[in-house]
Amino acid sequence: MRLVLIGAPAAGKGTQARKLIDRFQLAYISTGDMLREEVSRGTELGNKAKSVMASGGLVSDELIIAIVNERIKQDDCKNGFILDGFPRTTVQAEKLDEMVKLDKAVYINAPDDIMLERITARETCPKCGASYNKISLPSKKAGICDVCGEGLTQRKDDTLEAGKARLATFHEQSEPLVEYYKKQGILFEVDGMLGVEEVSKAIIAELEA
Ligand code: AP5
Ligand code: MG
Repeated sequence: MRLVLIGAPAAGKGTQARKLIDRFQLAYISTGDMLREEVSRGTELGNKAKSVMASGGLVSDELIIAIVNERIKQDDCKNGFILDGFPRTTVQAEKLDEMVKLDKAVYINAPDDIMLERITARETCPKCGASYNKISLPSKKAGICDVCGEGLTQRKDDTLEAGKARLATFHEQSEPLVEYYKKQGILFEVDGMLGVEEVSKAIIAELEA
């Protein structure tokens, strides 16, 4: 099964992807996580991406398409994969269609004001990538990852200002993908305002249907 997850910043793409990979034994590919890894390692790509990401813009199509094209050829993707945060532009979607045939595009729909609240309350594990929320999904021990015990951190782009810019970028550049996949007949839309478990139940039911 080959899936893409579309949704505004903080809609719950990463949260849902982690549930779906366990259920369906899929490889997990988050372009945001891959870029953050490059930034933290200080690679050439990371240095190019750093300021763009912090300001809430998008890394160039050319760069990100090359990364994904390499990643989906790896062995762990043979059984299928979930792409979280790719494609984000129509150019990326068209290139992806040239690479593989997708089974489903899941759109997690959620309103901007609530997403801003989620962004500023999010805590992330820098080691295993688990995502928490001080309001809706706190870790059992404050500031510590439930999964691996690492200290939780806040993403550099999880400020109010960068959050607003990321939402604007989403509406301008990524939201047209909803129509793109609707036309292909593979779009499944889910209400991102439901609880985490309800969202995953709805997606799993659709994928198993
Ligand atoms: P990326 O890392 O993909 O960030 P994003 O799209 O802004 O999405 P987030 O990771 O913020 O949110 P999410 O939907 O994963 O939500 P989460 O599950 O964590 O990209 C970062 C940057 O990299 C981009 O801005 C861009 O610069 C660059 N980039 C990446 N891909 C690119 C591409 N293809 N092209 C160009 N540039 C690219 O949940 C959020 C919070 O809400 C958490 O605290 C969580 O606990 C909570 N939560 C989740 N679900 C629920 C729920 N149902 N109810 C209540 N709380 C919930
Ligand atoms: Mg994410």
